[in-house]
Amino acid sequence: MSFGPVAQAEDESPLGEQMDEMSGALKSLRRLKRDPERWAKSAAAIEKGAQACIKVMTMVPKEIADLPAGPAKAKALADSRRLMGLTLAGFAELELAFLAEDEEKVETALDKLKELKGEGHEKYNKDE
Ligand code: HEM
Repeated sequence: MSFGPVAQAEDESPLGEQMDEMSGALKSLRRLKRDPERWAKSAAAIEKGAQACIKVMTMVPKEIADLPAGPAKAKALADSRRLMGLTLAGFAELELAFLAEDEEKVETALDKLKELKGEGHEKYNKDE
């Protein structure tokens, strides 16, 4: 249980920390739009987000870890791996789009990531 911002910061899980890194990389993109070195800096920010995503892939969400051993847990583990794998691919596509300086591809990759976040959080981060 958490009682406000201080307790929350102390409670932050290693998985939550890496998710924050992923989120921070995506949020930096808006500010970088006005930067003369926008494409290169955005690609570098997203590469950092991808590294955080790779770290997340070595962890298990608490909601899944808490399930009793059995087929439902095996299914949730495989499904969350599938979602994180697609998320890593999305970060890579986004980095490639910035390296190609291709606005349309940037938008496509961002839409994909938004959908994956929605599905992942709806299924495995229910108290968000
Ligand atoms: C671009 C994609 C995503 C972004 C930007 C994102 C971002 C975030 C953020 C900001 C948090 C809150 C971290 C905190 O301060 O506690 C979070 C938590 C979480 N996310 Fe994601 N997320 C993404 C995709 C996913 C996917 C695909 C899944 C599931 C497979 C997922 C599962 C979770 C879980 C389980 C937590 C709770 C972590 C904890 O508190 O232990 N996320 N995410």
